[in-house]
Amino acid sequence: MALFKNDAAGEGAKNLPRHIAIILDGNGRWAKKRGLPRTAGHAAGAETFRRIATYCKNLGIDYLTVYAFSTENWKRPREEVEAIMGLLGKYLREAVETMERDHIRLKILGDPSILPESLRGLIAETADISAHYEGFQANVCLNYGGRDEIVRAARRFAEDYKAGRASELTEESFSSYMFSAGIPDPDLIIRPGGEMRLSNFLMWESAYSELIFTDVLWPDFTGEDIDAAIAEYQRRDRRFGGIKK
Ligand code: FPP
Repeated sequence: MALFKNDAAGEGAKNLPRHIAIILDGNGRWAKKRGLPRTAGHAAGAETFRRIATYCKNLGIDYLTVYAFSTENWKRPREEVEAIMGLLGKYLREAVETMERDHIRLKILGDPSILPESLRGLIAETADISAHYEGFQANVCLNYGGRDEIVRAARRFAEDYKAGRASELTEESFSSYMFSAGIPDPDLIIRPGGEMRLSNFLMWESAYSELIFTDVLWPDFTGEDIDAAIAEYQRRDRRFGGIKK
């Protein structure tokens, strides 16, 4: 099935995106189509995340970032927000038990301060475990907003500047104030679910990302959809503002 697996010397392994980011969308519609509550769509979406993360790791992708809960998602009905937080808790608990064995580093991008206490504890535990080794890294954006990330970075830089801890502001030094500090920008951003917008996802980091939109609903997303997105990415001509060599 995989185009690139165990194909390190082959065509597919060339020009593999180092960092793939995905906007998880379509869980609610997936559930509705089946006459199920929206929360069942989120449960299926969380399973798909686990499957796709494993798939990307086996392909040799270094970073996978997913948009799981935005700063705007608090506007959803309380039951739905609670169900998503419950799923995140369940997933993080499982991750604490298995990530060391599976060599998966997990980082949460976003503001944890208003998340439930239990989730904050789990986030700290996964961060501790991740600090101990190198390898594939999954980033889960949680209470995350792209503009919020930029404003927070600007505030933190201003504080450091005032305190004499920072002087010059450059693109590189500013990046170090982002939640994504130290993570290379995403090469490829995929949005399943049929919408064609970024919805406040990685506003700073997406400057030169290739964008791919697909109608597949997130819970239905498979390794083959990743393969197809990578094949499309490899057909693109990335010039970063320069001209073709
Ligand atoms: C978007 O679908 C999905 C979300 C807002 C929540 C995603 C959260 C999870 C999959 C839960 C846990 C995640 C991880 C990473 C363990 P939607 O509800 O906007 O779908 P719709 O557009 O069809 O209504």
